[in-house]
Amino acid sequence: MTIIDLLDLVVNKPRFSCFSLMYHLISLYLVKKNVLASTRRPRKKSVAVVGIGRVGLPLALILASKGLTVYGLGRDKEKITKINDGVMPFLEKGAPTLLRQVRKKRFFATTDYSVISSCDFIVLTLGTPIDENMNPVFSQIEKAIGEMKRYIRKEQTLILRSTVSPRTTRYVKSLLNDVEGIKVGHNFFLAFCPERIAEGRALEEIATIPQMVGGVDEKSTIKAKELFRLLGVDTILTDDISAELAKLFTNMYRYINFAMANEFMVLADYYQRDIHTIVQLVNYGYTRGGVSLPGFTAGPCLFKDGFFMISELPFADLFLTSWKINESVPLFLVKKLRDATDLVNKKAVILGLAFKAEIDDVRASLSFKAKKALLRERMTVILHDPYVKDTQGQGLVPDVYDAVKHADVIFVGTNHKMYSSLDIPRIKRLVNKNCMVCDIWNVFGSGKILFPLEELTH
Ligand SMILES: NC(=O)c1ccc[n+]([C@@H]2O[C@H](COP(=O)([O-])OP(=O)(O)OC[C@H]3O[C@@H](n4cnc5c(N)ncnc54)[C@H](O)[C@@H]3O)[C@@H](O)[C@H]2O)c1
Repeated sequence: MTIIDLLDLVVNKPRFSCFSLMYHLISLYLVKKNVLASTRRPRKKSVAVVGIGRVGLPLALILASKGLTVYGLGRDKEKITKINDGVMPFLEKGAPTLLRQVRKKRFFATTDYSVISSCDFIVLTLGTPIDENMNPVFSQIEKAIGEMKRYIRKEQTLILRSTVSPRTTRYVKSLLNDVEGIKVGHNFFLAFCPERIAEGRALEEIATIPQMVGGVDEKSTIKAKELFRLLGVDTILTDDISAELAKLFTNMYRYINFAMANEFMVLADYYQRDIHTIVQLVNYGYTRGGVSLPGFTAGPCLFKDGFFMISELPFADLFLTSWKINESVPLFLVKKLRDATDLVNKKAVILGLAFKAEIDDVRASLSFKAKKALLRERMTVILHDPYVKDTQGQGLVPDVYDAVKHADVIFVGTNHKMYSSLDIPRIKRLVNKNCMVCDIWNVFGSGKILFPLEELTH
């Protein structure tokens, strides 16, 4: 505020009190004396998010909504055009609206790596799969760093956000130090800041989950914190390896828990008891209970993350055992079906292909393993999912009631909400006589894993 502005206020705004006038005069004096910070706003930062998939795109949109200029770097030109036109490539609650708000204003999807040179932060949200021997694959990270080498410059901060095996951030540090003029920790900064969202709830969770910030050195931690504090959540400062382990332990804790639930299901079945009844007996009114219910435990993250630990240490048996248990569940269920009824030349319908409820992501979904096993029993297999698009010609039937027509087996693969409110009398009229239901998720509410549809009373 200048002297002229102040005079204008006093003359034109009678309610402008003497007290406010004094306050503003003192502020003006202090600013002139450099005692208060200048009122000029600092330049808004810019960010390149490399890999605009399920993790990168929601983060990029949120950062853009905070006023930053964000470039989303991808490889697929057609996908990039669609995103710039406001079309989300996958299901994510709230994202279509946010995309329309920020696209071409604060968010720009591109395949052009040269935008990196104008950015303060570079965030890598690339895929980190495992290969056929269950070893971590770093090629997406290596390739992206190779492509960005000629655009990175001093004083930038690179944040690795993909889930990685321990010490990968140190490996990235060595790749960056190979770039002429770059010395991580001195004139370039590097941190590991893992993503912990659940697909479908990314926008809500980025705005609520505390962010781990693990720099390879103190300066890097402070630089990376500058970006994550903009999300308005707590930042937890640590080092890179601790953050890498914390992310892996977050996922593995859940994976082992679900494996335990699935093992309990198999044990209960051995004694011909229903797991849902037993879990209720354990948990009801007992504060130290908390046993999980069984289900298909899958998805690209939980499936692979344990192997990031095993690849270096051969002693992580709990991870390996959990993987064996969780991955064997579809075959356990198909065996139960085979023991209960004749499957050859019969028709099965799998309800749900996504690896978990209310999303459209089929990566590493156990429904495909179930399909394969049912086909091996010589069944015809029909698929239904309300969210998954039939992009790979999987033969999905769009309407659930069409899908169940003449079915001998209804096999629930995913606990999408819509399956809990199906019109059961209508389904009973559509399926074949003696139709069996295999319902690990208990979406039909019978409390049984396997039962004849006729038994359902609603
Ligand atoms: N999906 C989740 O719910 C989730 C949650 C937390 C952490 N993670 C981790 O985050 C990482 C990313 O997972 P995701 O599910 O988003 O994977 P994704 O496959 O959806 O996204 C990765 C994207 O990177 C792109 N890409 C690959 N190489 C590139 C390059 N050189 N330049 C530009 N783009 C490139 C791919 O085309 C893809 O779109 C993984 O490490 C994963 O384990 C995922």
